[in-house]
Amino acid sequence: MRNVTPDSLTDLLLSLSGPDTDPRVQEVLSALVRHLHDFAKEVGLTHAEWRKGLEMLTRAGEISDSERNEFVLFSDVLGLSSLVDMINSPKGCTNSSVLGPFHILGAPNLPVGGDMIGDNVGPQVVVQGHVRDQSGAPIKGAVIELWQTADNGLYSGQDPSQADYNLRISMTTGADGRYALSTIRPAPYPVPSDGPAGDILKATGRHAWRPSHLHFIVQAPGFRTLVTEVFPSDDPYLDQDAVFGVRSDLVMEYKPGDRAALPADIAARERLADGFSVVDFDFVLPPA
Ligand code: BEZ
Ligand code: FE
Repeated sequence: MRNVTPDSLTDLLLSLSGPDTDPRVQEVLSALVRHLHDFAKEVGLTHAEWRKGLEMLTRAGEISDSERNEFVLFSDVLGLSSLVDMINSPKGCTNSSVLGPFHILGAPNLPVGGDMIGDNVGPQVVVQGHVRDQSGAPIKGAVIELWQTADNGLYSGQDPSQADYNLRISMTTGADGRYALSTIRPAPYPVPSDGPAGDILKATGRHAWRPSHLHFIVQAPGFRTLVTEVFPSDDPYLDQDAVFGVRSDLVMEYKPGDRAALPADIAARERLADGFSVVDFDFVLPPA
């Protein structure tokens, strides 16, 4: 081992794995080590650059806590989260997209047709559609979680001026697979940029903005859980999402709403201000 060279180090390291190493662990770690070593050789990594990288990882650990995970943000802004989503998205169903750091378990239940606007200000919108399987059949008992920003671009949990669970609900579909609710339009917002992930954005002249979106998790027995987002087609950041979450099947038109055409069970039907919009969006779940 004392004659180790840049050309022999990688194979030497990989040869050290014991016979009981799980084959998938060996496959993943071998590829990771090979790419890491090739990367260092390709760019001629200096000591200063290597130290800077380690300092960034150290700072990511220091800035992370139960509410903020800077390592996930690294993965997001470097496109890894979206790449993993895309290579694992089955064909013929709704595409998945990033979960983001602002999901909170335990959102209150809202019946189909319920109102989530409450005291929130902002352009009003009815969001509705169906949860279906790949044959188009409605899925009964699908649980949809929805969370979004208020008009100020902040999520409850992030913003002390909002009540706990503001603009967060859970809704269960009936036999027709339908969901519907009234809410306000979410606002675009920047991902946190005061940590080392933000330093990467600044160092490369990138902005931190995400297009506005509605976050969804859709779960149903016998189906794969879908984590996704729905974006308005007229958002100025649609083609420059800082975390690469936009897919064309997730872009929806916010169409002008017609009160008379609204289903009778929309709780806020009579209270909706003129100028409200309607978003129709169906979820198609792959089998488990
Ligand atoms: C979000 O959509 O909430 C989000 C996603 C990735 C990074 C930061 C925020
Ligand atoms: Fe978000």
